[in-house]
Amino acid sequence: LDRKVRQNNWEENNFINYKKMSENLSIVRSRLNRPLTFAEKILYSHLDDPHGQEIERGKSYLKLRPDRVACQDATAQMAILQFMSAGMDSVANPTTVHCDHLIEAQVGGAKDLERAIGINKEVYDFLSTACAKYNIGFWRPGSGIIHQIILENYAFPGGLLIGTDSHTPNGGGLGMAAIGVGGADAVDVMANLPWELKAPKVLGGGTGYIVEYHGPGVEGISATGMGTICNMGAEIGATTSLFPFNDRMYDYLAATKRKDIGDFARSYASELREDEGAEYDQLIEINLSELEPHINGPFTPDLATPISKFSQAVKENNWPEELKVGLIGSCTNSSYEDMSRAASIARDALDHGLKSKAVFTVTPGSEQIRATIERDGQLKTFEEFGGIVLANACGPCIGQWDRRDVKKGEANSILSSYNRNFTGRNDGNPATHSFVTSPDLVVALSIAGTLHFNPLKDKLVGKDGKEFMLKPPTGDGLPVKGYDAGQNTYQAPPKERADVQVQVSPTSDRLQILQPFAPWDGKDAKDVPILIKAKGKTTTDHISMAGPWLKYRGHLDNISNNMLIGAINEANNEANKVQNFTTGEWDAVPAVARDYKKKGVKWVVVGDWNYGEGSSREHAALEPRHLGGLAIITRSFARIHETNLKKQGMLPLTFADPADYDKIKPDDRIDLPCTKLAVGEPLIMTVHPKEGKPFDVKLLHTFNEAQIEWFKNGSALNTMAKKAQK
Ligand code: F3S
Repeated sequence: LDRKVRQNNWEENNFINYKKMSENLSIVRSRLNRPLTFAEKILYSHLDDPHGQEIERGKSYLKLRPDRVACQDATAQMAILQFMSAGMDSVANPTTVHCDHLIEAQVGGAKDLERAIGINKEVYDFLSTACAKYNIGFWRPGSGIIHQIILENYAFPGGLLIGTDSHTPNGGGLGMAAIGVGGADAVDVMANLPWELKAPKVLGGGTGYIVEYHGPGVEGISATGMGTICNMGAEIGATTSLFPFNDRMYDYLAATKRKDIGDFARSYASELREDEGAEYDQLIEINLSELEPHINGPFTPDLATPISKFSQAVKENNWPEELKVGLIGSCTNSSYEDMSRAASIARDALDHGLKSKAVFTVTPGSEQIRATIERDGQLKTFEEFGGIVLANACGPCIGQWDRRDVKKGEANSILSSYNRNFTGRNDGNPATHSFVTSPDLVVALSIAGTLHFNPLKDKLVGKDGKEFMLKPPTGDGLPVKGYDAGQNTYQAPPKERADVQVQVSPTSDRLQILQPFAPWDGKDAKDVPILIKAKGKTTTDHISMAGPWLKYRGHLDNISNNMLIGAINEANNEANKVQNFTTGEWDAVPAVARDYKKKGVKWVVVGDWNYGEGSSREHAALEPRHLGGLAIITRSFARIHETNLKKQGMLPLTFADPADYDKIKPDDRIDLPCTKLAVGEPLIMTVHPKEGKPFDVKLLHTFNEAQIEWFKNGSALNTMAKKAQK
């Protein structure tokens, strides 16, 4: 295991460290003394402190040292801006950025890409220069979708990667624990903080679990097929999914010019799978030979109907039966195998004089896939079939689709091989019934143009008037002639980076350089207003709304205009209307916060149960901090949001007695003895009601020693910057 094998073909000095991993594992083994699952082996071999770390599945929080970080362009903006505010010269761990989310599908690949480069110029310029400056690999627009690029270039068996996108688990197809996280986690790892993950349970199905596949069926699936299965695991809320290292992965590594990694993995193979007798928290058996093709939806990926029952379900539920658009590709299903099988069905139809009845689009997952299927003819088949080849990017999967064939509000059906189909996700039309399935079925149903068609039993009528059945799809798992890399779309960071200037226009409304937050003033807070007493559910969407606001996610001041605009004010049961105590006027929440900030008045928010549930969006913590907030006091927190608040230098506090929430009125003022903040000690807050006597309320917190430093220094990043300077 002493060999020096590079993690990938792009970076000279980053190596796979199986030796260190196996040393860490033996330390943990001697402590736990039981067989381990593969998922456990990956996590425990990446522990920051294998000797001291407490390990209990489903309970402890593991402090981990991931091998890599990957960010897509939408989430990378704030992550990099935050990283910059720490004042470090380069990222502490290998990182890549991928431009895939901001390209709108309109007419077809090349033109759409050109248009996107124009519209998003300032974002791309910022990302490309910041990547060059901080030693980050930059994949330019047109290179492909993050998860496909990771599988083709960066994933390796036994590795641990965090990515700022939910479908990061796609890397499990190469035996990597690839986990989707929020921007704040990515920043931690870039800045060399250990990354925290609750020790997941293994297998089962759903939140808090790692789904680990094993058994004889695994050998029959291609590496990219395993990638697809892991990718879809995000839809059951799993932390990640993974397959044990096997020959199919070896073949894929060899085909993508990484045979040395395959050989190295073979020498470490006993640790790249579960131990004999490893115990799972839950075991589910799937018999692949009995599994029927399914179509899922509409509106949710977990409403699954087998193809044999689908036509009936369409009738019973009154789903629009005409298939308007079939879409294949995306990060989920755009491997060489997927494209070849899909093209074989299209070819079969063409041989009978038929084309796609539905509008048909193809999204290659990467430039490498596009170039390879162009060389090998599948792309031409799709075009003959009537298909439009879109840019190598997310496109309609993330709503980047200028759809013209139906009007907004018109009920219609579309079928894609993407991974999720939430209402309005693809085309912004809530009446679009979006279904997901395999690329094979998308093509077959597109030929028929109706949701009633079942290619396993129904016949089509060819141009000659004769009936025929579609042949079963065929296609190579890997290209016989090898992959064609296509155009060079990668920008490596230069060796000399000191003189690189990061480009952010001072007049930009999409990007803004972040200034480090000011450290705590060392004082107790007195007579502080409650900006809003939020009632009921307050998710990260209520705190920092998505939709049109996403445009500003690289501009903290602009996006802060959405702060808490979805939260319901207990005072009037309305959203985004609170009273400014300095003027008595009622105004929007962000406007009042800005006025307080201008006047040097700190403020707090009072919230209900599970405050901040939903996504890991770090903006929900950055915004209140930016607008001058001091503390968020709730009945309880969603854990990730609570940590995010601490990282930004805010005080997340909870009522020791949840009933005290009801004693607080929106126009009360409070005193917070910040100087008394200490590990494990409650804080006693004094409440001054508008009328009546002041009273005390006991508050709890979960700060540890290191986190108290974050509060004192103004943020976790300030703390890292201070350490780096020493
Ligand atoms: Fe992009 Fe859709 Fe995948 S948004 S990353 S193609 S899930």
